[in-house]
Amino acid sequence: MAMLRVFKDLIKPYIYRSRLRAEGARLAAMEDPEARAVGDAFLKAGCAAFDASEEVLMECVETQRAKVNARTDTFDQPDYGAGAGAAGGAGRTVRRVIGEFARAASSPQVWASMHFALVRAVQPALCLELGTCVGIASAYMALAQRLNAAGGRVFTLEGAPGAAAVAEANFRDLGLENITVVVGPFQETLGTVVAEHPGFGFVFIDGHHDEQATWDYFNQIAPALLDGAVVVFDDIAWSDGMRRVWSRLAADPRMAHACDLRHLGVCIYRRTGGAGA
Ligand SMILES: C[S@@+](CC[C@H](N)C(=O)[O-])C[C@H]1O[C@@H](n2cnc3c(N)ncnc32)[C@H](O)[C@@H]1O
Repeated sequence: MAMLRVFKDLIKPYIYRSRLRAEGARLAAMEDPEARAVGDAFLKAGCAAFDASEEVLMECVETQRAKVNARTDTFDQPDYGAGAGAAGGAGRTVRRVIGEFARAASSPQVWASMHFALVRAVQPALCLELGTCVGIASAYMALAQRLNAAGGRVFTLEGAPGAAAVAEANFRDLGLENITVVVGPFQETLGTVVAEHPGFGFVFIDGHHDEQATWDYFNQIAPALLDGAVVVFDDIAWSDGMRRVWSRLAADPRMAHACDLRHLGVCIYRRTGGAGA
């Protein structure tokens, strides 16, 4: 048990930060200013080189995370397919302890701080997240937007009403009013969100980790992306199907750059089709 904790709390973050620094150095040396900006954000997260105003906000989310992680009450999570729930398959509902769910499914601090650094670098007016869970990654994004001169809003989609309610309570506790939670299956909500709010500069696809679903969600979102938008895909090595869809996305001519951080894939989108990474 102690060894597991050392691996989760120390070794894994160390490995993630090393990857961020390696990819950050590669991108930061490129001529393309958007690649350089993403590279600098990776280096900032990889070196934990945030300034005091940024540190204070991220610490607030971590304090909130600790409270949620300790919760022992439950909610019912509908299973929408791969990655949405552990047991039963699509159509079933699984009862979950909030604290256990939050610990297992939320972005760890390193990746959440990478989202924060990317939103600070890209300065998107609109962010989109597929998979709110209890709201950790969306809180990081929304706080980064709060520090950005032009502000901005996060749209986050969640299929489990119980998880969405926990997230909304967290946002209230954090004083975050620039997050809109859209409750329902992505299959039913995404189309309306992208049609009504075109112009996303940052997207985090972190739910329903299925090969075809991931490809379809990206293609549904693509018309609403700004040129130079950053699109982050979670769990790209979670299954053979996710590895295949990541290879396909990374090779897609619409991606000017694709960075494989092993756990996460980060792409820069070109409306005209990019030169490839
Ligand atoms: C890995 S968690 C998201 C973690 C969150 N992005 C973070 O980093 O803090 C994935 C979430 O997506 C939701 N989800 C999965 N498939 C879904 C679908 N098809 N429609 C709506 N929500 C879905 C699950 O209920 C779960 O809360």
